[in-house]
Amino acid sequence: MKFFIDTANLDQIKEANELGILDGVTTNPSLMAKEGITGRINIQNHYRSICAIVDGDVSAEVISTDFDGIVEEGKILADLASNIVVKVPMIKDGIKALNWFKDHGIRTNCTLIFSTGQAILAAKAGATYMSPFIGRIDDTNWDGMTLIKEISEVYTLQGFDTQILAASIRSARHIVEAAKAGAHVVTCPLSAILGLLYHPLTDLGLEKFLQDHRKANPED
Ligand code: E4P
Repeated sequence: MKFFIDTANLDQIKEANELGILDGVTTNPSLMAKEGITGRINIQNHYRSICAIVDGDVSAEVISTDFDGIVEEGKILADLASNIVVKVPMIKDGIKALNWFKDHGIRTNCTLIFSTGQAILAAKAGATYMSPFIGRIDDTNWDGMTLIKEISEVYTLQGFDTQILAASIRSARHIVEAAKAGAHVVTCPLSAILGLLYHPLTDLGLEKFLQDHRKANPED
């Protein structure tokens, strides 16, 4: 399973990358705005900075919602760096654009997936990745992980090669559940990735090992 970090914050991207387990980055217009990155040129330069940090895939989202606009924007984004993946919303013109990008060798991530039907359409349109939003489904009192399981079953049965990118991950537990449900990729905030590290018995065990070592080796 691949690990992506879901942020536009360069320090967090560097921190996750230094762990040596990072396979890529996802961003969206809200995450860009949160970092105060505004204006077409600044946004493009920010993508270049992210791509200079990580070798893996970096999802850059289009703002346009019509076919011509999505294609024009996607071409510009894809030219910024070889590891850019153009992020396209699950809308009618988005589906047409996914097909166009596939035919022109540009990799894509179809975003804002909330149903298995949408996941089938994204795969048929040739998306490289498609992103079901787990946390946002949980927020509506449905079970986001059930969606990942169903998509995984359908994709396996039908032999689709679009990768399931579990998004809107809120916790370390979500990462484990997404892995069990068959996600190919998880994109997570840094806090969820670091949350995987923690177990109280690890901390207690380490403290005891170090205490015993200090007792036995007072000179250390
Ligand atoms: C995925 O690509 C999205 O950027 C992201 O996971 C959305 O997460 P949120 O629901 O926490 O905003």
